[in-house]
Amino acid sequence: MTIDFKRKVHEMSNQQIPLIDLIAQNQVIGDQLIEASKRVILSAQYIMGNEVKAFESEFGAYVGVEHAISVANGTDALVIALKALGVGEGDEVITTPFTFFATAESISFVGAKPVFVDVEKDSFNMDPQKIEAAITPKTKAIMPVHLFGLACDMDAIMGIARAHGLFVIEDACQAVGGLYKGKKLGTMGDVACFSFFPTKNLGAAGDGGMIVTNRDEIATVCRALRTHGSGENGKKAYNYLHQIEEVVEADLSTDNTVYNPLKYYNYLVGHNSRLDEIQAAMLRVKLTYLDQWNTKRREIAEGYTQGLKEIDVITPFENAFASHVYHMYILQSEAKDALIEHLKLNGIATGVYYPIPLHLQKVYGGLGHAIGDFPNAEYLSKRTFAIPMYPELTQEQQQYVIDTIKGFGETNE
Ligand SMILES: Cc1ncc(COP(=O)(O)O)c(C=O)c1O
Repeated sequence: MTIDFKRKVHEMSNQQIPLIDLIAQNQVIGDQLIEASKRVILSAQYIMGNEVKAFESEFGAYVGVEHAISVANGTDALVIALKALGVGEGDEVITTPFTFFATAESISFVGAKPVFVDVEKDSFNMDPQKIEAAITPKTKAIMPVHLFGLACDMDAIMGIARAHGLFVIEDACQAVGGLYKGKKLGTMGDVACFSFFPTKNLGAAGDGGMIVTNRDEIATVCRALRTHGSGENGKKAYNYLHQIEEVVEADLSTDNTVYNPLKYYNYLVGHNSRLDEIQAAMLRVKLTYLDQWNTKRREIAEGYTQGLKEIDVITPFENAFASHVYHMYILQSEAKDALIEHLKLNGIATGVYYPIPLHLQKVYGGLGHAIGDFPNAEYLSKRTFAIPMYPELTQEQQQYVIDTIKGFGETNE
């Protein structure tokens, strides 16, 4: 059977340039993805098999960490990481209000309180200068977010964290392959979390996530928590948490399709949060392309930034310490809504990330925040929007986006 990865005509009808084009990606690697999925189907091993093991080891090597623990999605990665660090009821975690909801949600989910500090107007990332004033005796951790693929100032954040005995959980969900002073994002905090949501720069064909750490005990607890706190890892985690010295025998069973009694011995209350084999097999294919895709994203970003120089939009900032992976390419405009409408009329998709900063979300009404508390996050949420960014974006498409934006500037002069 040959598979036609071409876009169906009706799908093209009213949007010529999408924000992210996974069909264009399929046209390049679709056959390999089908092969990888087929391999899993033929093996009939769907959960925690060889593909997951191999992907964890390849991803760990790519990021440069001791332990990579795959989970069902990026949100679970954050929740499990927080639990593994012992963050819970009565604790506070400092984070940014300008991010996807899951960042703060994970903190709330474990029973802790998200404490927001404002972002920098240029980088959109947590302002390290504002962290110390937010620390209280209840603060247990800092959760910086490398937003849109741009590194936070990790030396500054780690310096504050270490001075105050706080953990750092890097939310690297939008930043696989991004760099800080040449170091991979995800290698500097105590733990880091990634998302493989399909539109991410390393995206699965469904949900997926990863926790990485260099700390053996934290990795053991994460491994235990992702599968009901059971089996070898559950026992090891229990022993670590209760300071019991005991050699735990290795669980050599690899085949999850047969009865494994260790599965039914539980030591912690955990989750069912596993990456499945088909996702792992496809992610293994995509990981081999990631560096070349990230390079392409940077080239496209450079093309936009040059092409949009002379006009009345602000293009993204990149700190000297960072290598941005442009999960999203974000513009700022005073006339955001009209410009978005102009692009839509011309068949160009846009996205608004994020229209309401987290301190003003209804769900966080109980935190008692008001408009004006985090002026930079509020300012950015009104002005920022994403334009098409994906490695397969052609030069012609990019030029069309640039010309269309310029056209708006001219009609508004
Ligand atoms: C910054 C950030 N944190 C957390 C998440 C949660 O990841 P997921 O959607 O895989 O649960 C996402 C992704 O959507 C994200 O962008």
